[in-house]
Amino acid sequence: MAPVNWEDRWSTEAQLKQLPSLHGIVSKFSTMAGMIGMHGGLPPADSFPFNYFNAGISAAGHGPADTELQIVEPQLVSAAQQYNMNAEGYAPLVSWAHNMVASLHQPATLLPQPNPNTSTAPTTPSSSSSCSSEAEPIGMQVVMTQGSSAALDCLFRMLLNPGDPVLLEEYTYAHVVEADLLPMRCELLPVPMDSHGLLPAALDAMLTQRSVAGLALPRLLYCIPTGQNPTGAVMGPERMRQVYELARKWDLIILEDDAYFWLQYPQGPEAVPGLNLRPGFLSIDVDGRVIRLDTLSKLLGPGFRLGWVAGPPALAAKFALYTAGTSIGANMLSQVMIHQLLTKWGRQGFEGFVAQLQRRYAQQAAVAEAAAAQHLAGLAEWQAAEAGMFMWLRMTAPGADSSKLIEASSAEGVMIVPGNLISVPHLQAAARSRQQQQQRKAASSTVM
Ligand SMILES: Cc1ncc(COP(=O)(O)O)c(C=O)c1O
Repeated sequence: MAPVNWEDRWSTEAQLKQLPSLHGIVSKFSTMAGMIGMHGGLPPADSFPFNYFNAGISAAGHGPADTELQIVEPQLVSAAQQYNMNAEGYAPLVSWAHNMVASLHQPATLLPQPNPNTSTAPTTPSSSSSCSSEAEPIGMQVVMTQGSSAALDCLFRMLLNPGDPVLLEEYTYAHVVEADLLPMRCELLPVPMDSHGLLPAALDAMLTQRSVAGLALPRLLYCIPTGQNPTGAVMGPERMRQVYELARKWDLIILEDDAYFWLQYPQGPEAVPGLNLRPGFLSIDVDGRVIRLDTLSKLLGPGFRLGWVAGPPALAAKFALYTAGTSIGANMLSQVMIHQLLTKWGRQGFEGFVAQLQRRYAQQAAVAEAAAAQHLAGLAEWQAAEAGMFMWLRMTAPGADSSKLIEASSAEGVMIVPGNLISVPHLQAAARSRQQQQQRKAASSTVM
């Protein structure tokens, strides 16, 4: 199978998107030594309010004993307060993220590709590297984001035209539905799930039915493979491979929003994996059809508004173009600060930090599960959490209505979310009814 042709994937908007011409000139020349800037808009470094940054590192950081982060080098202090003129992000952090993705996921796209003329079967990284008839690697690039929500908004606009069909898990991160896909008037195609995520047979059946009925086929599948929001489902390697094979069969782009990737604890608090993590779809992607989103929100803190997108070069270039045209890149202070922190920690310190976080979530999951076993046996079913922040309870008592639990649990000082608020069919129906109400209101005001 030939690699995905991304030129064929862009929305009409993305086809028209151009790099702002001034941005191109400024980023090309502004870093040249001795250049006198008479072009527009870059404030001089000595006009910035801060001349150093000093931050205490909390005990949660398991890096070197040093507990202070000092940014004093004038170039760094100034870079942290300047525009981000490199559309991919602050280069040292881009490089850190690229190395991390490459080492944790070992993307198949970084390896020589099997020659499409001699093989159609996907290969594992080890078998493809020993294949004699190999084409060039597709490649993988990383672009920093302002967190996954902002990246998702860009990616949907890059890949979908208003009204396009899009596949997603039947329960999902509601923000994506309410903030992005419904306002774009996309046709949402919720795929049934079990405790391991998307059901491949259901996905295949849905697409077959649409094809037979002559309906437009979706070209994008959005999914959350690890510690899924909201069900907590973890897609194992076998399920992932089945879904990937279907993506090949139906020529889908997989957008993996792996916000809870770092929070894996399949063996509980006593044996957390650290950086020995179950990799994502990127690791098996031989066609360059996977877009991977990572965020630092659940790892270091959402206030930094930082993450990255990893994917084939054509996708990364278009994403960088969107970034340049919207925010002019992720927050520089966050990027410089986080890069300094990660450098100070080194891989070992970073792994220590990740492991203590995993332990913490694993312990909380164990407590929640013990409480459920004590109080909800016979009333609800659940799956022991193996990753992420979510525990999904399915009420089994006859006539049980989860929405009624909100009032009862909030009276006890506990906030829960009933399933219908995060169910795609429910969100769709609610949006339809809001739209009908607005139409009725508009019609009645016209009559008056
Ligand atoms: C699946 C998923 N994606 C993305 C986000 C938001 O990430 P960010 O803070 O990077 O925008 C969340 C936050 O709850 C999430 O659950």
